[in-house]
Amino acid sequence: MNMLADFSELAPAYDAGRRGYPDPVVDMVAQEVRRKVRKKQLVLDLGAGTGIAFGELKRRGVPMIGCDISYPMVSSPLAYSRMGRRAVVGAAASLPFASEVFTSGVSFGAFHWFSDRGSCTEIGRVVARGGCFCVVHKTYEDDLSHAVSSLFERYTGALSGKSDYNPVGALASCGFGPIKVANFPCQETYSIEELVAYYRSVSRWRLVKSCDREPFLYELCELAHRERTGSLVVRDLDISIVVAAKPK
Ligand SMILES: C[S@@+](CC[C@H](N)C(=O)[O-])C[C@H]1O[C@@H](n2cnc3c(N)ncnc32)[C@H](O)[C@@H]1O
Repeated sequence: MNMLADFSELAPAYDAGRRGYPDPVVDMVAQEVRRKVRKKQLVLDLGAGTGIAFGELKRRGVPMIGCDISYPMVSSPLAYSRMGRRAVVGAAASLPFASEVFTSGVSFGAFHWFSDRGSCTEIGRVVARGGCFCVVHKTYEDDLSHAVSSLFERYTGALSGKSDYNPVGALASCGFGPIKVANFPCQETYSIEELVAYYRSVSRWRLVKSCDREPFLYELCELAHRERTGSLVVRDLDISIVVAAKPK
């Protein structure tokens, strides 16, 4: 596994720092998967993490099962309150489920970690014919996010690893189609403390050496102070939704 994809150490920070998804985004995904739900069949949330999207879909009546490679993520206190026992540990490349057992699947903020051919083939195996797989991905596009990305690069030497991310190509090459894409430009508002909590929950935070963490956070706060309006920082982001049908 790509070591950056291992969120285990980040589970407590994840609960503290991460946001959910806007209602129109979750509504669209719920509508896509619900129209495919057949009696007694469940929807897979792959890379479920602490169950943020799982909880939002469950509230909309979608019958969910979560799966994640990290035990600490799916067993954090918030994860348990959202998913209870409906979460299992498993890797996308070898899913612990029978073929075509799920009516559909979703992946929120996680597919970039397992969009390789082997994992997409597995996803195609466990989703039933006539179902779909929905991928939701946030891309922060504001000046602050770009500046913090450079900060991470300077402190860790690691580039943001998503430059070749292509969910449509990955799913199409494993037999999914037709595939539709929708984009939701939106904003999130953070206090400086919330922004620090957010960046302490991202995978690259683990690459910042312990001795560098204090100066890193100092520079992060300086950047945030420069970008804030009043006491808040407004971040522009684009949320993409890819809905890939599995042919009948
Ligand atoms: C950024 S979190 C997203 C969690 C959640 N879906 C959300 O929206 O908050 C990415 C999750 O993908 C999981 N993950 C990474 N690689 C994985 C893999 N190969 N198989 C299953 N889960 C994986 C990580 O453990 C982590 O919990």
